[in-house]
Amino acid sequence: MGESFRLNHHFLASFLITITIATLKSVYTTTPTTNTEFVKSACTYTTYPRLCIASLSTHATLIQTSPKLMAHAALNITLASAKATSAMMVRLSSNVQLKPREVSAMRDCVEELGDTVEELRKSIGEMGQLNSSNYEVYISDIQTWVSAALTDENTCTDGFQGDEMNGKAKVFVRGRILFIAHLTSNALALINHFASIHG
Ligand SMILES: *[C@@H]1O[C@H](CO)[C@@H](O)[C@H](O)[C@H]1NC(C)=O
Ligand SMILES: *[C@@H]1O[C@H](CO)[C@@H](O)[C@H](O)[C@H]1NC(C)=O
Repeated sequence: MGESFRLNHHFLASFLITITIATLKSVYTTTPTTNTEFVKSACTYTTYPRLCIASLSTHATLIQTSPKLMAHAALNITLASAKATSAMMVRLSSNVQLKPREVSAMRDCVEELGDTVEELRKSIGEMGQLNSSNYEVYISDIQTWVSAALTDENTCTDGFQGDEMNGKAKVFVRGRILFIAHLTSNALALINHFASIHG
């Protein structure tokens, strides 16, 4: 009776250990989990980590565990967002309820967003062609263009300051631009992180 209990106990213990090892193995070797964990840890280098995780987790399979692909994906997302906002603002600027001062700020902003889109496009182009012989030049181009994109976004928001601006248009534009500026800032942080580990 006592002997059989000990045997069962021993069996149960080794059975549990086997299950635990199997579970741990699946947790640490299952690719999607590893990729998602990579995205989360890389996002700690950004100023807006929650936005970073929310926007990049869905691209974890593509990013795998590559800091370069992570920066590339962040640029892709920022570009898509800037293009969508630009189109939205073109439609908004023809709104008859806007004051002339607001229409003019909206048009300036569309122009600055156009520059942002262009800078992000060029960055993505060089990011995709980055290799050991062009690395120094291209990474420096990319850092310059993405910083310029951030400046253009801030210039757009500045145009919407002041009491004469309509509450709704101001709140909407500032909100959208702030969102893009945060995505851009995160992309720049991920580019800088990639550059720092690449050497
Ligand atoms: C970035 O976008 C391009 C074009 O849509 C796509 O081919 C590429 O796979 C994307 N890269 C990443 C890392 O998201
Ligand atoms: C690196 O990329 C450039 C174009 O960006 C290309 O002309 C050059 O041949 C490439 N070099 C290597 C070593 O792949």
